[in-house]
Amino acid sequence: MLRVGVVGCGAIGSEIARALDSGLVRAELIGIHDARIDAAGQLARSLRRPPRILPLDQLVDAVQLVVEATAKDAAPPIIRAALERGRDVVVLSVGGLLGCLDQACALAETHGARIYVPTGAIAGLDAVKAAAVAKIDRVTLTTRKPPRGFAGAPYVVAKGIDLASVREPTPIFSGAARDAIPAFPANVNVAAALSLAGIGADATRVQIVADPTSDKNVHEIEVEGEFGRLAIRIENVPSPANPKTSYMAALSAIALLRRLTATLVVGT
Ligand SMILES: NC(=O)c1ccc[n+]([C@@H]2O[C@H](COP(=O)([O-])OP(=O)(O)OC[C@H]3O[C@@H](n4cnc5c(N)ncnc54)[C@H](O)[C@@H]3O)[C@@H](O)[C@H]2O)c1
Repeated sequence: MLRVGVVGCGAIGSEIARALDSGLVRAELIGIHDARIDAAGQLARSLRRPPRILPLDQLVDAVQLVVEATAKDAAPPIIRAALERGRDVVVLSVGGLLGCLDQACALAETHGARIYVPTGAIAGLDAVKAAAVAKIDRVTLTTRKPPRGFAGAPYVVAKGIDLASVREPTPIFSGAARDAIPAFPANVNVAAALSLAGIGADATRVQIVADPTSDKNVHEIEVEGEFGRLAIRIENVPSPANPKTSYMAALSAIALLRRLTATLVVGT
């Protein structure tokens, strides 16, 4: 059985831990880690077979695969800790990975490990990856969330955007994915994943809309290239534990873990 450790016991990490605990994934949850010991304790107590709560180094030593589900700035040292010991790593904080991508890939190469980025809260990365085998001309991501989903984003704070006064769908950002990621670190992991699958963070365009008329986190992707044209839209239910995060992000990571342990693999 694949031995897994989960780092980050918030909305996504907890969902993944529950999937491992319930047998939804054919892998063993060996241990968990969180910067907040109470979050780890609460999660461990809620599981049928409570995993060990371990310091990061010990957790990495005890497992074959580390799931990172923390935060953009917390992710790079966790990714490095896993790869330096030759452990595979599943990265949810994709914006954080983008900031240390070359170093992470070099470590993975040196130590024979792999970095997995789940599709996350979007859809269609299979088609984007296939399209990228040929020439892609344009990739655009439009993200719409209820205004509270953008609370505390550095861009919102810096621009003094009053989210409470937004009464109709309002574009609050338009630019390259590379600029969107630090501006909205908790919201645009999808932009980072899309960039990695397609034409990179400089060429991928991102529009962000605060939409008080919707209770969903909506992502629309448009791609044009030699393959033709792709338009895809996903309407995600926000996670009850974290409105910035879509429930789909956790489901996607669980599906990735199932793929890693499956005998039949479907999809690109
Ligand atoms: N890939 C995607 O599509 C996608 C979608 C949504 C969210 N995310 C990202 O996934 C990550 C987790 O999201 P979430 O909604 O579960 O967040 P969350 O805030 O609910 O939980 C994060 C947990 O990580 C812990 N943490 C923070 N820094 C840590 C550190 N240095 N070491 C250990 N633990 C630490 C926190 O205490 C918290 O318990 C975030 O980076 C988020 O932006 C990705």
